[in-house]
Amino acid sequence: MSAISNHFFTHFNYNPSLAVQSPGRINLIGEHTDYNNGFVLPAAIDKYVQVAIGKRTDGNIHMAAIDLNKIATVSIQNLKPHSSQWVNYIIGVVYQAIHTIASSKNHNSTQLEAINKGFDICIKGNIPSGAGLSSSAAVECAVLFAINELYELQFTKMEMALMAQKAENDFAGVQCGLMDMFASIHGQKNKVILLDCASLDFHYYPLDLTDYSIVLFDTQIKHALASSEYNTRRQECEQGVQRIQQMHPLVKTLRDVTMEQVETYLGPSTDTPPNIYKRCKYMVAEILRVQAAVKDLEVGAMQAFGKKMFETHEGLSKMYEVSCPELDFLVEAVKDNENVIGARMMGAGFGGCTINIIKKAALDAVTQKVAASYAKQTNKELVVYVNSIEEGTHLIK
Ligand code: GLA
Repeated sequence: MSAISNHFFTHFNYNPSLAVQSPGRINLIGEHTDYNNGFVLPAAIDKYVQVAIGKRTDGNIHMAAIDLNKIATVSIQNLKPHSSQWVNYIIGVVYQAIHTIASSKNHNSTQLEAINKGFDICIKGNIPSGAGLSSSAAVECAVLFAINELYELQFTKMEMALMAQKAENDFAGVQCGLMDMFASIHGQKNKVILLDCASLDFHYYPLDLTDYSIVLFDTQIKHALASSEYNTRRQECEQGVQRIQQMHPLVKTLRDVTMEQVETYLGPSTDTPPNIYKRCKYMVAEILRVQAAVKDLEVGAMQAFGKKMFETHEGLSKMYEVSCPELDFLVEAVKDNENVIGARMMGAGFGGCTINIIKKAALDAVTQKVAASYAKQTNKELVVYVNSIEEGTHLIK
């Protein structure tokens, strides 16, 4: 029996029906592009959340979060945002699943009756929270995948990713895009996934890590600003779109916008607030950059790929303004190092990790050098994760 099933037994005094593992994610390139209908290039990693689940009959959800040493109970009849955020990550997806079934035309009332009887769930993980590795998306995907199996709901992976995103929007209050949930649930071993966030088409690319390591340097900075500034960036992009729409009504998102249009309608000679111009300029460049970066990957041009990662960082730091001094320091520290072919801040920003592609032979030397300069600069110990790329959400024994 898995460790998570043992925890379940300890809490609930019976064996769970099933257990699920769902990973965190990295993103090689394409940052903040998901909610602008652009492209992202994420992958699932070897850090994960596990849940074990069993049915109840009294209409309640009993939850036990092992790492937090917390428990909670809610009635399944009355699901609404809770004062504890960890509870929201669980009940938010349950609400979405029930709502989706109930509002589908020929819904299966036996499924609804079954799920409305409630369940016990136990949860534990090893994804560092606040590091930008999407621990919350991993929880949401794990819970949704578990109830999908338990009640045979037959949701597709993409439906589950979209429901998990909606749960994060409505219950956790972050207007995030689809990338994190998509990557957690669709991950495949040793592959990165190009997701077109407009059409939702996706394509797997093998990532050959024979000569390179994907390394995260964790600033250990967790800015409280992150979610409010995230929502502001989203609005600024929408405001840019609204201005362009006045001339080009067919434009729906920044995916439809050219750099020329950014300059003409939002540039310095217009009355557009400079922040809106900067955000949109970064975004249009980044959406194009991901498409070019994938071409590099296809022909194994890793140096060219890495160069684009540095360009993304520059844009995120100077134009999109979601970096912080510590992230900038870590990118600057490796910029001229011939053994580091690419580096940039990863995820929403304002803290968390940089992602680096480092020549394997020089991994220890680079890491030691960066750790020493980071300690000198910030008085903080540099936390380093060397990632392998793993399978997405799946059942475990
Ligand atoms: C967070 C969000 C994602 C995405 C990234 C930035 O991880 O949850 O949807 O927008 O930030 O790329």
